[in-house]
Amino acid sequence: MDPGFPLSLIPKLTSFPSALLFIQPGLFSKHPGPIIVVAASAASIHVPVRSLNLQAGAVAQGPTKVLTLHQNSNVKEIQKLHAKKFDHLVLGPAAGQGLHDRLQCQGLKALNKTHFPTSYHVSNSRDTISFVTVFAIYGTSQYTHVDGRSSDLVTIGNTSYSKLERSMAILNVFINFIQVSIPQSNIVILTDPASEHSVRRNSVTIFPIQGEYSRDKLMLQRIRSYIAFLEAMFKEHSQRQDHINHYIFTDSDVAMIDDLGQLFYNYPNFDLALTFRNNKEQPLNSGFIAVRGTRDGIRRAKVFLQEVLEVYSSKYMKASRMLGDQLALAWVVKSHPSFDAKRFTRPQAFLEEIRGASVLFLPCAIYNWTPPEGAGQFHGMPLDVKVVHFKGSRKRLMLESWNFFNSSASSDISDMLCLILKSGRTKYDF
Ligand SMILES: *[C@@H]1O[C@H](CO)[C@@H](O)[C@H](O)[C@H]1NC(C)=O
Ligand SMILES: *[C@@H]1O[C@H](CO)[C@@H](O)[C@H](O)[C@H]1NC(C)=O
Repeated sequence: MDPGFPLSLIPKLTSFPSALLFIQPGLFSKHPGPIIVVAASAASIHVPVRSLNLQAGAVAQGPTKVLTLHQNSNVKEIQKLHAKKFDHLVLGPAAGQGLHDRLQCQGLKALNKTHFPTSYHVSNSRDTISFVTVFAIYGTSQYTHVDGRSSDLVTIGNTSYSKLERSMAILNVFINFIQVSIPQSNIVILTDPASEHSVRRNSVTIFPIQGEYSRDKLMLQRIRSYIAFLEAMFKEHSQRQDHINHYIFTDSDVAMIDDLGQLFYNYPNFDLALTFRNNKEQPLNSGFIAVRGTRDGIRRAKVFLQEVLEVYSSKYMKASRMLGDQLALAWVVKSHPSFDAKRFTRPQAFLEEIRGASVLFLPCAIYNWTPPEGAGQFHGMPLDVKVVHFKGSRKRLMLESWNFFNSSASSDISDMLCLILKSGRTKYDF
């Protein structure tokens, strides 16, 4: 989840250069307005951070590196990035062309066939999956502006959405993709009993959990709700032994585009799985957590998340609005004595025993794919990508992608991936 970064969390710039460690691409997607200027007194340079694809730690060595970055940034690029967000699809070049293991596109036609949604294989087992997401909305009053709501409407295809309708549309498209890619699965929506949405779809269950779902506390509440849900599933588990149901906890701004049942079959030994990327400060993304539906799996995952919650509450409360869960996850993993953080630098799955649980680490490139924002390099889309995450302002693209997939005669997931690959770096009005 990358819904933005509260400005109050940005460290005081007096601690430069360590302050820069906290500033990473993607963090500012919901705060496009101000350019963050980091002034290095040593050389009096002003670097508009949004224009640079800084990696965490990239400037930790001091002002020399900042100078280099400054020279590489150019004014035109800054202006481009700072321009108004787009209210329609904008296609750029497809990254990764010419690389043999990356999706190749000709216009919006994929040259590689990647996924076959209609020929579902049941991974040789009778196991099922429940996708679990937290979702709560309250009334419509908070979304209605005094000066009329028309300025707040966003149009996609022939439909206009208010802010509330956009959230519902994202949730619906989340469900649509699951039902296409993994038709035998269920969807569970964890929600505040007071939440006012109603979702009536096949295979969707609403699971109310008492809590504090305000925007400020949402990430904290999300872990609490996951734990409460696992507790309930653990109790229920003792009553049914006939088949196994696994759980995948995700943000709702993701599209599942492959059969994720394979995950539990191909990696038979994990209790819970997390997604990682090569990012020093935030190597773990909390937007995808898989839990094996055995008694042990559920119990160990619950204990692990309780540990994360404890670290969150004791160390990262100031970050409770957005990033606290990811920081706490990383803390729990990295504080394990035998853990080697170098493993995050290679995009290969690995298994590690942490706090009594077998934790599978999966590369974001496949299980939580999202293009970097801004001008930085990236190497396209792996052919076996399974989950696409429409972080921040890319949520328009999620709806556009579904419309494209749903309307094109061939209904080809690969072609849709070309659309996402070419458009994923555009800033949208969502
Ligand atoms: C993907 O398609 C391109 C263009 O047709 C082809 O050269 C490449 O070998 C394909 N990649 C794979 C892994 O099949
Ligand atoms: C929008 O409406 C027009 C006119 O009714 C129709 O031709 C077009 O196909 C519609 N587009 C979408 C994306 O539904």
